[in-house]
Amino acid sequence: MIDFQALAKSFDTPLYVYDFDHIASRYDELKKAFSGRKSLISYAVKANSNLAVIGHLAALGAGADCVSIGEVRRALMAGVPKYKIIFSGVGKRDDEIREALTSDILLLNLESEAEMGRVEAIAAELGVQARISIRVNPNIDPKTHPYISTGLHENKFGVDIETAKRLYIKAHQSPHLDPVGIHFHIGSQLTELEPIKEAAAIVADLVRSLLAIKIELKFFDVGGGLGIVYDDEETIAPYDYAQAILSTLQGLDVTVVCEPGRYIVGNAGWFLTRVLYEKVNEGKRFVIVDGAMNDLLRPSLYNAYHRVEVVGKSGNESEADIVGPVCESGDFFAKNRPLPPTEPGDLVVVHSAGAYGFVMASNYNTRPRPAEVAVEGGRVRCIRQRETFEDLIRLEKMCL
Ligand code: LLP
Repeated sequence: MIDFQALAKSFDTPLYVYDFDHIASRYDELKKAFSGRKSLISYAVKANSNLAVIGHLAALGAGADCVSIGEVRRALMAGVPKYKIIFSGVGKRDDEIREALTSDILLLNLESEAEMGRVEAIAAELGVQARISIRVNPNIDPKTHPYISTGLHENKFGVDIETAKRLYIKAHQSPHLDPVGIHFHIGSQLTELEPIKEAAAIVADLVRSLLAIKIELKFFDVGGGLGIVYDDEETIAPYDYAQAILSTLQGLDVTVVCEPGRYIVGNAGWFLTRVLYEKVNEGKRFVIVDGAMNDLLRPSLYNAYHRVEVVGKSGNESEADIVGPVCESGDFFAKNRPLPPTEPGDLVVVHSAGAYGFVMASNYNTRPRPAEVAVEGGRVRCIRQRETFEDLIRLEKMCL
């Protein structure tokens, strides 16, 4: 059990807390689900890119799925071996492509013909052969929130099957491209297995048809997306996930790559914030806390549900919104939740905040971003200091 009161007292609020033992067990569970098969769990760094989090996963054997050269640098700094790093993303700049190629990472995931052209040209310039995979859009509805759904043709991601096939043939003929893998990712917070299986089957068929023309791919990257419990969702068990994917790969000798982010870190993190005041406006009750949408954006941006708890308080509950001090009506963590009466200083814990929490934080309203702490085997350590006002204005002062 994590002592949230003690952590809030030592590190102040708002604060992010991560349970590194939970992260390790989620990683192990997923790795085990693919046992008996060549697999690489490439942690999606975007979910939580703290160096200590990446380093913790690297030590367990994880690779890294990165979507900017900044994330690639983080992964390398944190000790992820270069041969386990993937660089994805729909719009890579020339300088990012160049650095990825010179860093000799496992592969670049390409999302368009135009991008393939740039990678080929830069590889030629550097005198190297770029290992690539192509992101295929299997046109499957993942049945998740539209903002985090990516596998339909109406989304900007990947290329359709026919284009992918043409691009593989083109890449195969180029001296500067080495098509080693294939990739798809249909969405995030997936709670249904069928769309994943359908997508895998479509992509596996493409791999077979490429094999028939002697284009042999080594990596079958199924993306990320495994959902977690925020409220009372029924989620997919890792074993079932692995079995569904493996069942589509008969006759293929490929390494299965997956890129989970949320599944690994989502339920391993909490956001801690303290009550400042309560107020009632015409019967509507508000609990005002010291954290805000700039610290944890998911409720405001996606209307996402996060479980909330007032530590050490219960009973006499009545409905209230938990809101922050930012000057926006969208600044809330919870709406119409039964909550006990609170007093200034009470600690509110927002659950399932380990993924897409700190990484989406901003300095809106000139609010310094929270500190982050890790708990591992009962030991607590700070893994990112709280920002100061000076940190926030440093780059502006340099221009004065
Ligand atoms: N691979 C690719 C190509 C992705 O686009 C993503 C997430 C992942 C892997 C990791 O997905 P995960 O396993 O974490 O579901 N900010 C949103 C989530 C955006 C996800 C974007 N892509 C949220 O807070 O729900």
